[in-house]
Amino acid sequence: MPKVIVANYKMNGSKKLYATIVKKINKLKVMDTRIVLCPPFVYLDEFRLKNRSVSLGCQDITNEDNSKSTGQISPSMLLEFRVKYVIVGHSERRKLGEKDEQINEKVKICLNNGLLPIICVGEEKKSDKLDSVLLQVEQALKSTPKDTSPIIAYEPVWAIGTGKLPEVARINRMSKKIRDKIRDLGYQNCVVLYGGSVNKDNFKEIISSEIDGLLLGGVSLRIDEFIEIVKGIDNE
Ligand code: 13P
Repeated sequence: MPKVIVANYKMNGSKKLYATIVKKINKLKVMDTRIVLCPPFVYLDEFRLKNRSVSLGCQDITNEDNSKSTGQISPSMLLEFRVKYVIVGHSERRKLGEKDEQINEKVKICLNNGLLPIICVGEEKKSDKLDSVLLQVEQALKSTPKDTSPIIAYEPVWAIGTGKLPEVARINRMSKKIRDKIRDLGYQNCVVLYGGSVNKDNFKEIISSEIDGLLLGGVSLRIDEFIEIVKGIDNE
């Protein structure tokens, strides 16, 4: 299965920066890697992607089927901009008050409209029990069709933007627990990504673990380093 690399640009960037990124990404040649770029909504139209290995994603979606919803973004708007993937339940949104129930609504809105949710889960503190993460997985997927292949991004909150990385054994343990959980819930298959403080110096040890790809934050803005990581993984 091709590895998946997702860039979450968060609330960063500018038209100028994204023009540079898109130019370089459109020239990038990869054999067996899928790349997903998730800019802020207002920059989606800057991402005229001409590379078959690269898809467009975004960082959130509405949880309501209701047009009277100031500030929200609907699935049909995203589809009009060729968005395929949506990051859902990122810890930085959970911190703003997003609850499992709303995350589940967002996952369902994605799936009902042909969008693929990238569901973020992760423990707050290193000392937290890993089983709390499985509860997040279960809640996010509640009442979703079993013939889908969920994409789960394991992002320990304590590892996001801190330079602290879990041991590979912990990532493997969590990845296995998530896969077992997904199977127990009745889904055939799933994709498990890891995110949190990945950079050009540590990606190799992480990608050697049992995960299917990476969700990158800060490093995705440094396009040359991002490309170095993509090529390093593609050549594995
Ligand atoms: P960093 O790679 O900056 O730690 O962020 C990870 C992340 O939150 C991706 O969604």
